[in-house]
Amino acid sequence: MKIIAGEGINEYYAQTLAMLFFPGAKFPKQHEEDDDPSELEVSCTEDAEGNLLAFARMKREDGKEACGEGTFVPMAGVTPQRAKKLAVGRAVFAAGKELFGVQPPWGVLTGVRPAKVAAEFLASGGGIQKTRQFMRSEYFLSQKKAALCASVAAADMKLKKQLAPNMCSVYISIPFCPSRCAYCSFVSYTTPRLLSMIDEYLDRLIEEIGAIFRHIARTEQRVACIYVGGGTPTILSPEQMKRLLSAVSEYVNADELLEFTVEAGRPDTITEEKLAVCKQYGVTRISVNPQSLSDAVLENIGRKHTSMDFFRAYGIAKESGIRDINVDLIAGLPGDNFTRFSRTLDRVCELEPSNITVHSFCVKKSSDFLRQSTDIYKNSGGDAVKCVDYSQLKLRNTGYKPYYLYRQKNTVGNLENVGFAREGHEGLYNVIMMEEFHSVYGAGAGAVTRLVSWKPDGVKPEKIKRIINPKYPYEYLRDDFSASAFEEKLFEAEEAFKLDDKNAEAENE
Ligand SMILES: C[S@@+](CC[C@H](N)C(=O)[O-])C[C@H]1O[C@@H](n2cnc3c(N)ncnc32)[C@H](O)[C@@H]1O
Ligand code: SF4
Repeated sequence: MKIIAGEGINEYYAQTLAMLFFPGAKFPKQHEEDDDPSELEVSCTEDAEGNLLAFARMKREDGKEACGEGTFVPMAGVTPQRAKKLAVGRAVFAAGKELFGVQPPWGVLTGVRPAKVAAEFLASGGGIQKTRQFMRSEYFLSQKKAALCASVAAADMKLKKQLAPNMCSVYISIPFCPSRCAYCSFVSYTTPRLLSMIDEYLDRLIEEIGAIFRHIARTEQRVACIYVGGGTPTILSPEQMKRLLSAVSEYVNADELLEFTVEAGRPDTITEEKLAVCKQYGVTRISVNPQSLSDAVLENIGRKHTSMDFFRAYGIAKESGIRDINVDLIAGLPGDNFTRFSRTLDRVCELEPSNITVHSFCVKKSSDFLRQSTDIYKNSGGDAVKCVDYSQLKLRNTGYKPYYLYRQKNTVGNLENVGFAREGHEGLYNVIMMEEFHSVYGAGAGAVTRLVSWKPDGVKPEKIKRIINPKYPYEYLRDDFSASAFEEKLFEAEEAFKLDDKNAEAENE
């Protein structure tokens, strides 16, 4: 697909808007061949009063065209960048509506964190009803999505009250899995040769964890949440798990944490012994993820475990006494349909886990599915919408509330991922990540440290700085790492961050 972006319009943003109406579209570089005749042309002008007028022309594969206009009148608290994005988004929305006869449910909101936009409005004094209206009138969200967004924002504002200003959290990455699921593009090592690196990886990881916790103590911060994520953290043997968690326990008293998650994940890696180690070291939340309870779907997505494995692992998790169990599901998986998905959800609800997270199937660039079939959206998009609608209705009616929301690109039906929880059992770390409530220090391959600062009574983060670790375990291990040098580097970065008054744009659009 061809994008013609006028002066001052970010081409990447125009591509994101195009994908609202052309899901899965590819945008070849100028010198590359493009056999897709679809086009999107966007431009934007500003008058003397600062009012913006944007224009969009859209052409479909069959040659049919439509145009649309979008305006934006200057408003307090809206940066010039956001204003331009809104005007251009509205023009594209109008052209797409005309050309395809559909209105994307998320309107012109293309960012990863839709609830953050609503939370900002809510924090600046709008009530929940006004927040809904704001999301509808400014961003063109459907009634359902505006209501979802406002509910999540309200839940997050409430959860924020648990956090003291000197708090931070820690993420620990275990990028190893027993095998690779066909739909997944997370960095994860799965072959026996690469899995044999785990002990060496833990040596390095534990040194880094030490440096991070010493830095946290030196800067007088307090740890709110620890999240051990993957990959599949329960790929570690009980002894390896003990090494990792006992290293953490040297620096923090688990009783003082608000939450301690070990993501676990794949049911076929969960054993009583591993969960006993988790419980011993104060873990309060784990995930046991079937994704689907249809064995046909599980086979189709290369999950290498059955629905029975899930029920077995869930039983072990329940017996372990760990406070919260989360169950991850995916709507719109290849081979799934509404009947199978709703049956999966109903069976999961019968178990009454405290958290259920419903993801929408996302065709990631490096995923095998994209190479096999570009029709994936057409095949499953329709049913995925029904599945997501059903999940939101069913879970609300069964006593769960949405508290965590994010969106990804290349998702079936342009749908969202929503975390639901019983009141008082929300996964706080997830909220901290989405709302960027405080700094999160990342340890391990692929981990990202985010330094975040808020002004007292601010409605959004004042500035954010990322420090990115090597992506792959082999790069991470190749690093000439010294814990004391790393600790010093982190301290210097933090000092520089405090002094830097550059207002980094928060990632909410
Ligand atoms: C980081 S993954 C790790 C979880 C764990 N390894 C597992 O597979 O159970 C976290 C969650 O992201 C979701 N996920 C992964 N790939 C996805 C995709 N392509 N589309 C939608 N959700 C996806 C799954 O629900 C998964 O449980
Ligand atoms: S187990 Fe989880 S992280 Fe690992 S490949 Fe499968 S979906 Fe990805």
